[in-house]
Amino acid sequence: MVGKHLKQIYMKNKQFTFMYIKPDAFEYSEEILALIRKEGFEIIYISKEPIILTREQAEAFYGQHKGRPFFEDLMKHTVSGPIIAAVLEKENAINDFRILIGTTNPALAEKGTIRNLYGNADLYTKGIPANAIHGSDSTEGVKTEIKLLFPEFEDM
Ligand code: CMP
Repeated sequence: MVGKHLKQIYMKNKQFTFMYIKPDAFEYSEEILALIRKEGFEIIYISKEPIILTREQAEAFYGQHKGRPFFEDLMKHTVSGPIIAAVLEKENAINDFRILIGTTNPALAEKGTIRNLYGNADLYTKGIPANAIHGSDSTEGVKTEIKLLFPEFEDM
């Protein structure tokens, strides 16, 4: 009985997050996915094949950044090659994943984070937002981004 109760509490704290490995880090996908699993995230859904986003999808995904100076470069980079997208599950998944990926600029990303290990600091400095990976930053973001990349999750 106590075991069942504890299990219920544990289940309640589980959270989804959404991530995608960007074109600049596509070649490191296996290493990145292994690191994500090692850090306790369960990959509950993953694109069966690499996806190449359309400009329309990229604009919808990053709509909040429209008008920012880096927006055009972000669009070009986002559609420049294949990506791998996935839904992850873990306690505190959204926050913990943001910590695991590190700060936006790979040159400043904390040691051992995905952006520190696999981001391209040289390209980023030249204005190409090659920071390896994206992680949703809120529960609303998770829902919107999953719907954009995985429309089959419609009812979430
Ligand atoms: P991401 O986590 O995918 O969310 C928005 C993206 O915009 C971010 O990663 C970077 O790739 C890019 N970005 C955000 N801020 C800047 C900036 N100041 N200069 C260049 N690219 C940026």
